[in-house]
Amino acid sequence: MPSKIERKGKDVGKVAIYPGSFDPITYGHIDIVERALEIFDKVIVAIAYNSEKRSLFTVEERLEMVRKVFEHNPNVIVDSFKGLLVDYVAKTNAKVILRGLRATSDFEYEFHMASMNRSLNTHLDTLFMMTSKDYFFVSSRTIKEVASLGGAVEGLVPDLVVRKLKEKFKLPVAKRRQIGWDD
Ligand code: PNS
Repeated sequence: MPSKIERKGKDVGKVAIYPGSFDPITYGHIDIVERALEIFDKVIVAIAYNSEKRSLFTVEERLEMVRKVFEHNPNVIVDSFKGLLVDYVAKTNAKVILRGLRATSDFEYEFHMASMNRSLNTHLDTLFMMTSKDYFFVSSRTIKEVASLGGAVEGLVPDLVVRKLKEKFKLPVAKRRQIGWDD
C-alpha cells in the first residue's frame, strides 16, 4: 500500500519538493513555500535525516515545528526522508526540487547539488527562487548562533520556533555538549 505522501503526490497536479535541514525553519523558508504555492498545487517540505550535519533539533522536533507552521495550509505536506533525495522524490509525482537562493555565496553549493541530482535522475529539475529581500540575511545557522548567545530572533522565525530555541538554550552546558551543540 503506498504511503500517504505517495498517494497525495500522485493525485494532485503540480507538486514541488522543498528539501532541507530546516534546523530550524525560518521566515525565509516560509516565504519560499508561500511563493512556490503560486506556481505549484502542492509543496512537500521534506526534512532530511542528514548524518553529515550536526543538528540542534531532532528530525521529530523539526517535523513538529514545520507541521505547526503550515497546519492551516492543506497544500503543504510535511515529511522527512532518509537517503538520497532523488530516491525520495521518485516516490512522489514531483518533477521539481525547490531551493531558495539568498546570495551568490549559496550558488556554488546549490549548483553542485542540483547537478548531482540531475545526473542521478535526468527527469528531475531544480528550481531556484530568490529569497525575499527581508530575509536574505537569515539562515538557520545564524539564527541558532544568535539565539545561543541570547540575541533576539523574533520576526525572523515563527514565535513557536523562538520558544523552542529558548527551551534548547536553557539546557545546562553539559547537556548541550552531549547533543553536540556547544563545542
Ligand atoms: O538545508 P540544507 O542542509 O542545505 O539541505 C541540504 C539537503 C538536505 C537538501 C541535501 O543535503 C540533501 O539532499 N540530502 C539528502 C542526501 C542526498 O541526496 N545527497 C545528494 C545531493 S548532492
